[in-house]
Amino acid sequence: MRMYDIIERKRDGHELSCEEIAFAVSGYVAGDIPDYQISALLMAIFLQGMTDAETTALTLAMMNSGDVVDLSELPGASLDKHSTGGVGDKTSLAIVPMLMAMTQGRAFVAKMSGRGLGHTGGTLDKLESIPGFRIGLSHDEFMQTLRKHGGAIVGQTGSLVPADKLIYALRDVTATVNSIPLIASSIMSKKLAAGATSIVLDVKVGSGAFMKTVPEAINLARTMVAIGTAMGRQVKALITNMNRPLGTAIGNALEIAEVVEVLHGQGPDDLRHEAIMLCRELMALAKLEDAEQAELHAQQVLDDGSAFDAFCTLCAAQGGDTSVLHNTALLPQATCCANVYAPLDGYLGSLDTERIGIASLVMGAGRATKDDAIDYAAGIRLLKHPGDAVHKGNVIAELYASSKEKLSAGEAELARTISIVDTQPAPEPLLYAMVDTDGVHLEPAAEPALNNSIPATH
Ligand code: URA
Repeated sequence: MRMYDIIERKRDGHELSCEEIAFAVSGYVAGDIPDYQISALLMAIFLQGMTDAETTALTLAMMNSGDVVDLSELPGASLDKHSTGGVGDKTSLAIVPMLMAMTQGRAFVAKMSGRGLGHTGGTLDKLESIPGFRIGLSHDEFMQTLRKHGGAIVGQTGSLVPADKLIYALRDVTATVNSIPLIASSIMSKKLAAGATSIVLDVKVGSGAFMKTVPEAINLARTMVAIGTAMGRQVKALITNMNRPLGTAIGNALEIAEVVEVLHGQGPDDLRHEAIMLCRELMALAKLEDAEQAELHAQQVLDDGSAFDAFCTLCAAQGGDTSVLHNTALLPQATCCANVYAPLDGYLGSLDTERIGIASLVMGAGRATKDDAIDYAAGIRLLKHPGDAVHKGNVIAELYASSKEKLSAGEAELARTISIVDTQPAPEPLLYAMVDTDGVHLEPAAEPALNNSIPATH
């Protein structure tokens, strides 16, 4: 088999066989196939798409590129959640400790996370802004942490899904991220290899997501639910709004600080609500609690501080310095900051959320090439959201970076998307639909709308 022929066949729109897909994936992981040939194949897949059979073959080839974790020895259900990626999307960091506090040894939250990709942030980068936090646990450490504390968050380092680690980094810098087969196989190979039996997928849709329309997001959700179900897992997907960042913080240490607020029963309503919703669905999917009971329980662990305590436990178990959680001013802090002010009275207009992710990235919070270092302190606090009334001179956003040049680059990106309008933009739902093995359940009434005039639920 020759890599050249495989690229050519995909370029010309043919269906690749399982053997061809496995050859490309295993050859790349072994170092026999160079970056440029896999990049060409990724671009051909991006342009031509893949059949369901090809996507499943790609998922299995990636999953089998390394070890597959067997969680069946744990005395309880194993839970996992994954987001397709968004801006300011820090829900994993909130829900892992929430679920640890809710399940108390009845289940295990075995979370395998990723790094920032394109304009989106990554849970691992956020966690690494906590001094000492180790995302690269060995298999034994992972299992021990799960048994002892009920939860762990790790990267797909070393032997777990090495193919995704390599391909993910390549996609990030070759404009091949937002492709349904590539996203579905990337996510599901990790979910299947990480071993959890119940998996909730948060499929983001909107200007800050890889999927820009609800039908596309539903298509991605269906693909992933089908792959997971075929592999014997319980899988459900939520289609959630990414037409604006989730919460106010965008950037690694800033997002950790916001998660700490939510875990103290405070923080932005949208983030709190989405975290509660994801816990509810995961608990119900694993049949640990019914949905109503789980929703109340999720609120309770935020409001009584037990989710925060679980986050400190998780952080300490993975080598992190918990003093930064007790005092978030100790997290990395930027040396330069600037504000973006409203130039006139009106309402904040709709946003190109991807642009906001890029603004944060160019200030240092993300990577432009796969070897770039992250500036953990860099990022944005978006104090106003679409539909908020603003008066001339109000602060719309705070920007954080390590130099004036980086701040200016971020300001220039933000200026391309922040607008003040006369007519208040219509509120949008937080949840559009849920997808499970029974099909698509649209949410006509939608969960509480993202209108800031709606009173807080806590
Ligand atoms: N998240 C992933 O893990 N992989 C993708 O391809 C996109 C989002």
